[in-house]
Amino acid sequence: MLSLFDLTGKTALITGAGGYLGSAMAKALAEAGCRLVVTSRDADRAKSIAESLPPIDGSEHVGIALDHMDENSVTNGFSKAIELTDGIDILVNNGNEALGKDWKDVSAEEFNRQLANQTGYFLLSRALREHTVERGVTGSVIMIGSMYGVVGSYPDTYKDICAISPVGYHALKGGIIQMTRHLSVCWAKDDVRVNCLSPGPFPGEAVSEELVKRLEEKCPMGRMGKPDELKGAIVFLASQASSYMTGQNLVIDGGWTAW
Ligand SMILES: NC(=O)c1ccc[n+]([C@@H]2O[C@H](COP(=O)([O-])OP(=O)(O)OC[C@H]3O[C@@H](n4cnc5c(N)ncnc54)[C@H](OP(=O)(O)O)[C@@H]3O)[C@@H](O)[C@H]2O)c1
Repeated sequence: MLSLFDLTGKTALITGAGGYLGSAMAKALAEAGCRLVVTSRDADRAKSIAESLPPIDGSEHVGIALDHMDENSVTNGFSKAIELTDGIDILVNNGNEALGKDWKDVSAEEFNRQLANQTGYFLLSRALREHTVERGVTGSVIMIGSMYGVVGSYPDTYKDICAISPVGYHALKGGIIQMTRHLSVCWAKDDVRVNCLSPGPFPGEAVSEELVKRLEEKCPMGRMGKPDELKGAIVFLASQASSYMTGQNLVIDGGWTAW
């Protein structure tokens, strides 16, 4: 049974791989035997992320520059990833250009830019689909959504601490979950599965203790998620363990959306 989760011989491209959650997911894929192409908007940072990953037999992880808000960067980055490997089988759309403004003061331009993260996810997904179809292999696309693509915020939770979760972020993540469904049915017969992994509350160190305390009260498990708690889900979605699953949103949130 455990061989279903084995990613030996597979290659995954993961964007924003040096981030809080991206680094745990990249590590998990490497630990499952997967070769990785890790991306950052900064080429040197991408290289050092690749070097920090657990080694795999027979090949090396690689790091490339990729900005998913820039179509040329997506095209060039994906071509480079193919050139440096024997082919990409798995795509994890994880990177996110964040915006700290909520509904009160966000401009049209800022709102549109936040939504443009989804365009980048789409362009990369389409590139992966074309590439795997051309090679005649199966593909797995994993979008990183959010509990905030499923439910609204608790505005009072943020009161007197910081802006509430941005309206553009809720729209973005809801759109990513819906795009997952649409692309999954379009590409099911191409052997390309498309699923979404939606984390719940996983605040990084920069988030204030007071806010964490309030968030914990909103979570049935009474605590925040730790990045390693996404490792099982990402390997599951990337591997044959989820071979009959497509178009779904797997929510890992300590029960947040169950209430
Ligand atoms: N943390 C949470 O509580 C939580 C909850 C639900 C969902 N999520 C989602 O999980 C994902 C990772 O979040 P995180 O908390 O790990 O955030 P993070 O630590 O801020 O990491 C985000 C990464 O995105 C990359 N990035 C930013 N702009 C980019 C662009 N234009 N193109 C490509 N990559 C870009 C950055 O990499 P470089 O600076 O190296 O380019 C950064 O490492 C995001 O999609 C986020 O929305 C997080």
